[in-house]
Amino acid sequence: MVPAVPVENDSFLAACRGRTPARRPIWIMRQAGRYLPEYRAVRARVSFETLCRAPDLAAEVTVQPIERFDLDAAILFSDILTILDAFGIDVRFDPGPKIARPVRTPADVAALPEADLSACAYVYDAVGACVERLAGRVPLIGFAGAPLTVASYMIEGQGSRDFRHTKVLGWRDPEAFQHLLAQVARATAGYLERQVAAGAHALQVFESWGGALPPDVYRRIAWPHTRSVLEAALATGVPVVAFLRGGEGLLRAVAGDLPQGDLVIGIDWTVPMATAVSIVGPERVVQGNLDPMALFAPRGVLERLAGDVIAAAGPARGHVFNLGHGISKDTDPAQVAALVDYVHRS
Ligand code: CP3
Repeated sequence: MVPAVPVENDSFLAACRGRTPARRPIWIMRQAGRYLPEYRAVRARVSFETLCRAPDLAAEVTVQPIERFDLDAAILFSDILTILDAFGIDVRFDPGPKIARPVRTPADVAALPEADLSACAYVYDAVGACVERLAGRVPLIGFAGAPLTVASYMIEGQGSRDFRHTKVLGWRDPEAFQHLLAQVARATAGYLERQVAAGAHALQVFESWGGALPPDVYRRIAWPHTRSVLEAALATGVPVVAFLRGGEGLLRAVAGDLPQGDLVIGIDWTVPMATAVSIVGPERVVQGNLDPMALFAPRGVLERLAGDVIAAAGPARGHVFNLGHGISKDTDPAQVAALVDYVHRS
């Protein structure tokens, strides 16, 4: 593994490792995106797919929020579905993802090739381009989707409210379902390792659709695959954030089986931070979990809500401030600047 480029602002990495940071670190899920006029200006010229596939442009957009705000980490501009290139699956964004030929049957699963991770070389190149452009200002977070979350898009062919096809495959053909999750998990481990080799200082694994299944079912059929991805990510030596979106139930279901090491638990906004800390235990570092809608509240209310999160995270080993899900595209950037400033002052 190439040693990562050292960073001037290491508050995020220190907090992730359970050390005392110079200040409380903050970054924002989807911090590079449509709420920024400079992002919309780039998108007026190129499609989202082109942006993800052009390392220089991806790096430009990754750094946009770092230029504008005093954030403590950058996250690679990409998508959790770019890994599908490794399986030869074509994804379009409109703006939500669409897959022409979903994976619905055991025959579809059997026909999937073993992942060719070189098909995602543009992602590792983008990591390298981001690290270069950041020039050691802040660390770069690489990322991937967790196996169930990625597989649900492969199976549904798009976003879903009810995850009907995913559940039907799981009930009708549990072996094919497990085979698919294991195959995605193996690919994801290699994909994350390559991002670290390209210079990523930390990794985040997004289990955005962990709430699709009842917590006990999630724990039995999906969590072992997510856990194996987290283990592989931790084995690279960088801190790893597991963003587990599935409410208090999901957190309770997996809390007793979290890997050891520099693992940060990303909390979704529906779980009160105090409850989350009591579930995962005070020896864990937590990330989150302000309601993204709080950025639409009057300044005083925004600060009170952010202050509540900070206070509730007090007993945890460490805290990385973030939203409890991605920032809305209608957010006023001035509110983000106010939040960043507030978090650093408190
Ligand atoms: O700044 C960052 O956080 C890095 C970039 C990033 C994107 N997607 C860019 C993006 C990251 C980390 C993701 C992860 C991602 N992608 C997740 C997990 C995070 C979560 O929200 O729970 C998921 C589920 C996806 C799949 C996906 N990609 C969806 C559902 C959509 C449509 C969403 C929407 O708001 O319309 C996308 C497209 C997408 N990914 C956009 C961006 C900036 C919008 C594309 C555009 O510019 O038109």
